[in-house]
Formats: sequence, structure tokens, C-alpha cells
Amino acid sequence: MTVVEGVPRSRSRGICRCLLVTPAIRMERFLGGAADAADIHLLDLEDSVPPEAKHDARQAVATLDPLDVPAGYSLRVNPIRSPEGLRDLHMVLDARTAPDMIVLPKVESPYDVELVDDVLAGAGIDTVLWAILETAAGLESAMAVARSRPRLVALTFGAADFCADTGTAMEWEPLLMARSRVALAARSAGIEAVDGPTFDLDDAAALESDARRAAALGYTGKVAVHPGQVDVINEVFTPSTADVHRADRIVGEFRRTGSSIITMDGRMLGPPFLRQAESTLARAGRSR
Ligand code: GLV
Ligand code: MG
Repeated sequence: MTVVEGVPRSRSRGICRCLLVTPAIRMERFLGGAADAADIHLLDLEDSVPPEAKHDARQAVATLDPLDVPAGYSLRVNPIRSPEGLRDLHMVLDARTAPDMIVLPKVESPYDVELVDDVLAGAGIDTVLWAILETAAGLESAMAVARSRPRLVALTFGAADFCADTGTAMEWEPLLMARSRVALAARSAGIEAVDGPTFDLDDAAALESDARRAAALGYTGKVAVHPGQVDVINEVFTPSTADVHRADRIVGEFRRTGSSIITMDGRMLGPPFLRQAESTLARAGRSR
């Protein structure tokens, strides 16, 4: 990971394997614990809320009781350069419960993040930010967005909007470069990369395959659009027992020999393998 001038090596607030989206018009689901297994519970005011329901949904969010909301309550607002997005931000300033995190969709430039960061700072609100890159312009600015402000903790690639914006086919190969670019931008700024959703609700195999491919690109989590997707996603993004065992052996062998190069199972392993093993243990909630 390159250390960028002025940007801390890692400003992630912890690893999110699964972020579950619940429409703000389904508040009973959100408050009823349907999202319990997910690391982050996201209430959505954007695409899952139709235009005629936005006002009421926003009011419901504004009056949420702090005692009712799940830990780590997060909110997706409408695009910040739209009237609905500005209304959402305004509501957050006076809301009874401030979200722990605001997810900004259709971010196209670092200025989008800077605007929200400045407004929240001015109001003394320490909510962190998360940006979805899902347009051609957003992809072009990926690196600048990722490094924009310390309050930004993660990037997500939104395939559905990206395809709608660019005409790209919603298949793995045509999207590979864009998806990979978002992961690299996040990594270069020391923040998290969480892939966007798989929309096939009845195809657990497709979900698992998408999650594994995203993990292979460096993503450390994935968005779920239904509670039924959470377990599969959690499993893919939690290091397996075999992975943890191997990482343990690698770290142990480096410690034992005190050498910067070791040989294990017929392979020569140097410092990058030690760093990978340490990262596996950290993701498994272990340190050695
Ligand atoms: C998510 O927001 C997407 O557009 O895929
Ligand atoms: Mg989208």
C-alpha cells in the first residue's frame, strides 16, 4: 500500500464484511433486527424509496429514537447534488439520532465528499462517510475521491448504476476494470473497498461466485440487498479455518527463524507473504 502524503496509512473504521440495505419505507424490518447478522445496517433513502414516498421516509428517519436503532446505524442519502440529497443532509443536521455513517451515492468528484464533510464539521457531527462510485465521472475521479477527506472510510462500486450510465453489460468481464479500479483507489488511500450488490435474490451460487471474485480483487466485503444474502457474504469474507491455520504457521515460522525469507511446504516466502498472513489473522479477529 502506498502511503499518500497527508493521508494516514489506514483510516478504515474496521472491517465490514456485509452491509445490509433496508429501504427507509420498511422501518419495521430495520428496527425489528432483520439485519442482525450484518456488520453494518444501512437505512436507504435513495433508490429503494420512490419519489412520492421520499418526504415521509425522511420524516421517519428524522424522528428515530436513539434507543431503537441498531448499533452502527448508517444512512444512504440521495445524491448530494440533487434537491432530495440536500433535503436529506439538512434533515440529518436536526435528526433526533445522528447516523454513525452516511453513504453518499453517485459521488462524481472529491467536492461531493468535501461539501458534506464541511457541513457536518460545521455542525459538530462526527458521522463518518462512505462513497459509492457508480458513474463514468465517478470512476474517473476514483483516486481523488478516495483521498479526499479523513472522514471517508470506504468506497463501494455500484454496478447497476454504472451500467445504466455507461451502457456496459451487467456481466463480470465487461465490469472488471471499473470494479478493480474502485478497489485499488480505496486501497491506495488506506480505506475499505466493499463491492456492490448482487441482485439475483434466488441464486445463492451466483451471489457466492460474485463475492469470491470481488474478494479476489481485494474487496473485503459486499453489500446485501436482502437479509437472506448476509450469511453467504459473511462466510466468503471471513477467512476460513484453513486460511487462518496457514497464516498462523507462516507468522510463527517468521518469528521462530527471525529471517526475512522462509521456506514452507516447498515455497519460498518473503515479507509480502508475512504481511498477507498478518492481514488474514487481523480479518479473522486474531493477532499473534
Ligand atoms: C448500487 O447502488 C448500484 O447501483 O449497483
Ligand atoms: Mg446505485
